[in-house]
Amino acid sequence: MATMKIESFSADWIETPCDALVVAADEDWRARQEIQQLSTATQGWLSRLLESGEISTKPNKVTVLLGPPQIASPLLAIVGTGSRTSGLNNIHFRAASAAMKTICTRKRGTVRLVGLGASPLELRAAVAGSMVGCVGQDLFRAEKSLIEPDLIEWVGVSDPQLRAGQTIGESINITRRLVNLPPNYLYPETFENEARAVAVDCGLSIEVWDKAKLEQERCGALLGVARGSVRDPRIIILRYQGSSPDAEPLALVGKGVTFDSGGYSIKPTDGMLTMKCDMAGAATVLGILNAAAKLRAKRNIVGVLGLVENLISGDAFKLGDVLTARSGKTIEIHNTDAEGRLVLADCLNVALDQKPSQIVDFATLTGACVVALGTEVAGLMTNNSKLQSEIQSFSERCGEHTWPLPMHSFYTEQIAGKVADIKNVGEGRWGGAITAAKFLEEFVAETPWAHLDIAGPAFYDSPKPWADAGGSGVLVRSFAEWLLA
Ligand code: BES
Ligand code: MN
Ligand code: ZN
Repeated sequence: MATMKIESFSADWIETPCDALVVAADEDWRARQEIQQLSTATQGWLSRLLESGEISTKPNKVTVLLGPPQIASPLLAIVGTGSRTSGLNNIHFRAASAAMKTICTRKRGTVRLVGLGASPLELRAAVAGSMVGCVGQDLFRAEKSLIEPDLIEWVGVSDPQLRAGQTIGESINITRRLVNLPPNYLYPETFENEARAVAVDCGLSIEVWDKAKLEQERCGALLGVARGSVRDPRIIILRYQGSSPDAEPLALVGKGVTFDSGGYSIKPTDGMLTMKCDMAGAATVLGILNAAAKLRAKRNIVGVLGLVENLISGDAFKLGDVLTARSGKTIEIHNTDAEGRLVLADCLNVALDQKPSQIVDFATLTGACVVALGTEVAGLMTNNSKLQSEIQSFSERCGEHTWPLPMHSFYTEQIAGKVADIKNVGEGRWGGAITAAKFLEEFVAETPWAHLDIAGPAFYDSPKPWADAGGSGVLVRSFAEWLLA
């Protein structure tokens, strides 16, 4: 992995030259030491601009000042962080990212950042954010809209926080890049290569199930989805050992549909256009494993990635087909666009073989979840209230929102099959995120399990002040922080 160059800087940050200087200012900027120092150095120039409102302290607002007087850097950017009591915990991640996104539209040598974040968690978030802001989605454009600087310097961040933040930022960018890769470049076989590269880089063991092995293992639900494509599917099992070999692992399962056309229940063009993002769950698991391994998390983790393309051909699965999942359950296909749950059915069953203490799955599973919660919040559905509140609280602490949806037993009636044990959709569209989760629940036995429907937050259709459009890498940071704690 090409790592971005990041160093801590402890000399005089105003007098020592660099190519761009980024300083945070919140509503309470008069009380901030860095702003005071800059105001003093500039004989009150900066405080006059802040006083007049010319420089905004609103979250993610970046004011670029060229040729600031008495400052060694030719460019000074002030980034707003709003109110300290906003309760929004992603402020520092987003502010650092927004500043870099603004500055890195041109090639910069050294960018120096000052005053973003105070607590260790905030500092790690800010460092990670600075790496996300300067990387865009235009992987195939000759002229990039965002260019990484040669060096990012941090003032006032201790080395452990800096390195942890850097690892988290790198992991988020791994996930984002995979999501952004076009579907003619990223398909199950090439995803395998990417997973191998990550595994080698951070010392994970990797086991790959090809089509023959998947047949031998009777992964009939996943294989049913894969039939429409000439590209063979994969299940990839990654293992990280951070605890004693006999300690029960945490299992992380990811939906990796590298392109979702909908199959015979075909999507309209508008809905299909961004369906390269349908492997975001698998990419999220890979990003989290990269972070966990490099941060030396103290638990065993197994990642299971289900990689397929959902296409159409003379051999594709059809409406009315009955598939037999690896668990033995039979599934009646009522909609070939409800393919994610079929892929996950077998992956969850494979995860159960590892005797995990907990299972968490990540999936861009339903449009219904986006209707329910919008694009900033992931749906959280579980069979275990303790795991639910744990995930909700640490994701909230990172400002990556998750919100529970109900899982009453009566929802299960909606997925009862007539010809087979269950069917792959509910009765009508209502509660679609929940009936999908109830389907998954059929495959986790009694194991504490949580399902994160990331169809909303995994992919930005348009650019945000703090990030380019495309893959967001959402929840990599929250889970990295959870495993670090
Ligand atoms: N991959 C989609 C869900 C999705 C929608 C992800 C929007 C990202 C953005 C999933 O496979 C799907 O098509 N789900 C169907 C389920 C339905 C047929 C029961 C949906 O949400 O319409
Ligand atoms: Mn689909
Ligand atoms: Zn899908």
